[in-house]
Amino acid sequence: MNNFSFYNPTKILFGEGQIANISQEIPENARVMLAYGGGSIKKNGVYQQIMDAVGNRIVCEFSGIEANPEFETLCRAADEVNEHKVDFILAAGGGSVIDGVKFIAAAANFSGDRWEILTKGGKGIESAIDFGSVLTLPATGSEMNSGSVVTRAEYKAKLPFGSPLVFPKFSVLDPTTTYTLPIRQVINGVIDPFTHVMEQYLTYPVGAHLQDRLAEGILQTLIDIGPEALAQPENYEIRSNVMWCATMALNGLIGVGVPQDWSTHMIGHELTALYGLDHAQTLAVVLPANLRVRKADKLAKLAQYAERVWGITTGSDEEKADAAIAKTEEFFRNLGAGTRIEDYDLESSVIDTIIKQLESHGMVKLGENKDVTPEVSRKILEAAL
Ligand code: NZQ
Ligand code: ZN
Repeated sequence: MNNFSFYNPTKILFGEGQIANISQEIPENARVMLAYGGGSIKKNGVYQQIMDAVGNRIVCEFSGIEANPEFETLCRAADEVNEHKVDFILAAGGGSVIDGVKFIAAAANFSGDRWEILTKGGKGIESAIDFGSVLTLPATGSEMNSGSVVTRAEYKAKLPFGSPLVFPKFSVLDPTTTYTLPIRQVINGVIDPFTHVMEQYLTYPVGAHLQDRLAEGILQTLIDIGPEALAQPENYEIRSNVMWCATMALNGLIGVGVPQDWSTHMIGHELTALYGLDHAQTLAVVLPANLRVRKADKLAKLAQYAERVWGITTGSDEEKADAAIAKTEEFFRNLGAGTRIEDYDLESSVIDTIIKQLESHGMVKLGENKDVTPEVSRKILEAAL
């Protein structure tokens, strides 16, 4: 196992009815901004529950944070934070709203050019406004991590940043808030955490036995319950497990002491920025192709994944790897996600454009061995046609 330091200060309030308890988590005299997206929280009762809990502390609301939150929008929100002297932000929504609030929290006090928060990956952040979240779409893990991804449409750029200053103070995970999710978002909510685990697990062995078993446990749970989450939207037990899997997939725990890949995500971000695919749709396209192209480097872990996650015990390591990659793609397809570029009405000509964007964003040495060059990314995209 590699050396590591692990820090995660986010408090989780899990279960039905927990929104009522945010009152104890937000300072009594706080000046709160409530930040949300396109209005799903008004339709499913989450907004009212928040109002009942802390309505008297809310000094302003900022709505309209888009899916794949937009830099310009978030900068406007950061200006409002300053204007209203907000000292606590409450994010209510999916990964986009929570990521957006992380940026708002960091940008409000930022003395330099706010775009540099993203171009420097969060390095210059010296302070951030405190914030908490009420999660309504389990998928990204943003509710319990310190990362965020922000889009700037005018540059067709979607860039990540991170800072220990942008961990949520608390996050409420009430599975009943997910009952109103459209099918497409439920599918996304299985594929995104599945891929988060794969980016941290499917590299090369370093003797991190517990991390491997935790990762395999999350993958197996998602394989078991993913289809049920689609079939039974109001099954509390199933939705609880999906929600906790999504959080555990990217709160740092399974990634300590192990090499990490993340090339599927970085290639996927370009697909979203250029062509508007949902984040998880890009992963469904890139992950199976990525595993096929880099099979030789990942062979030991692929064989382990085949045996322990899919129960494939016969054949050579290479045959097991092939079978497990096919199973992965089939799992995504059976959930209802397209796994090929052409499933999204895009043609092979998009590959040149994606490669140019990867180069312009410095994404030229990706992966656990930093050997996913633009040439390798091209091969991956060709394998995804
Ligand atoms: O805007 P509203 O009206 O709330 O509607 C949203 C949005 O249209 C809707 N929704 C959310 N909860 C709902 C609901 N509709 C009905 N009922 C509910 N309970 O779902 C739509 C999509 O929401 P969004 O937040 O965009 O989805 P998701 O949670 O998948 O977040 C995706 C974003 O997170 C980033 C992605 O890149 C993308 O920008 N990621 C963040 C990560 C992180 N911070 O660690 C890691 C991930 O890999 C990912 O990159
Ligand atoms: Zn993701």
